[in-house]
Amino acid sequence: MTAHALELKHIRKSWGAVQVIHGIDLQIEEGEFVVFVGPSGCGKSTLLRLIAGLDDPSSGDILLQDRRVNSVPASERGLSMVFQSYALYPHMTVRQNLSFGLENLRMAKEEIDRRVDDAATLLQIEMLLARRPGQLSGGQRQRVAIGRAIVREPQIFLFDEPLSNLDAELRLQMRVEIANLHAQLGNTMIYVTHDQVEAMTMANRIVVLRAGKIEQVGKPLELYNRPCNKFVAGFLGAPQMNFLSGNLAPDGTLTMDCGLKMPVRLGETLSAAEKCTLGLRPETIGVSLEGAGDMTVKVQNFEQLGAVTYIYTVFANGETLTVQLAQQIPLRRGQDIGVTFDPTRFHIFAGEGERALLLHGRADA
Ligand SMILES: Nc1ncnc2c1ncn2[C@@H]1O[C@H](COP(=O)(O)OP(=O)(O)OP(=O)(O)O)[C@@H](O)[C@H]1O
Ligand SMILES: [Mg+2]
Repeated sequence: MTAHALELKHIRKSWGAVQVIHGIDLQIEEGEFVVFVGPSGCGKSTLLRLIAGLDDPSSGDILLQDRRVNSVPASERGLSMVFQSYALYPHMTVRQNLSFGLENLRMAKEEIDRRVDDAATLLQIEMLLARRPGQLSGGQRQRVAIGRAIVREPQIFLFDEPLSNLDAELRLQMRVEIANLHAQLGNTMIYVTHDQVEAMTMANRIVVLRAGKIEQVGKPLELYNRPCNKFVAGFLGAPQMNFLSGNLAPDGTLTMDCGLKMPVRLGETLSAAEKCTLGLRPETIGVSLEGAGDMTVKVQNFEQLGAVTYIYTVFANGETLTVQLAQQIPLRRGQDIGVTFDPTRFHIFAGEGERALLLHGRADA
């Protein structure tokens, strides 16, 4: 069996009396692009710093290629980290910023030059090598920061929200560039973000974190199609999944507070009727302007983006429903429209959303 690139075993971390990482177990394979996502304060940066060796876990083991590295200093772990604030040295040129760390390692000058030139070519910043950081755009500076990680030729790259200082257009461009970089270098990469689009588009596997615990790990579409609970379901996908409350009978009849009544094919046995939360992705809901549909809702607002239309509606009981259509339709505020539902694309969560219930015959099976 080949070694895992990284393995975390029962990692816990406390700051004083406050525990922020609550027992994390995770295996990452050679060459994987793994994205950690989760809301602010859930422990993403803390976990990355523990892996990098910048902080020590309170308990648990960190293994690189099956070797325990808890007591190995950061500089000897073979990892490179790229931070959100890419502190470049302002008085040094780009070339000096890239070579500085290697000079400290007393590497031969020819080897340093080779690595810097290779990284500059890969990142397309060759023409910027003589400039200082003050003479670069935000995206170019971020490329230099990534270059500084590349020249170390690490086993694993660690990225902590490297794009969050960039404007939307540049983020998108750098997102594609980092994905290309991964394809070219083939290194293991661990990437922290709270942007679910970055997670969905860049990751081989996503790790969803909440309050210092792993909620779910899986391929992007696995998590999108089979979220294990309401938290994961709500975190991935924009606009967010709609959540409606109601009851589920043992025979599979859903009776929702908004008035919707529908049968679903339950994949597990309920002993009695239970409170449940119905999850509806906005793109799975149909609109019928003429017929009544399954339910009638009132249009509160809408956004026509050309390729897609977002319709923000409300049920008579006050619960809201966002619909995403891949077409243009005539709409006006305050109008009543019919909406249709596809039970093969339902997500049903027990209670307030703690656990996804098994359903048979799902469309995305
Ligand atoms: N040095 C520290 N001393 C005390 N508490 C800390 C320290 N570093 C982090 N924390 C706490 O640990 C928790 C996790 O912080 P962390 O920085 O890992 O979150 P994050 O998921 O990276 O959030 P963000 O998305 O905002 O960057 C937070 O509650 C934070 O206040
Ligand atoms: Mg952070």
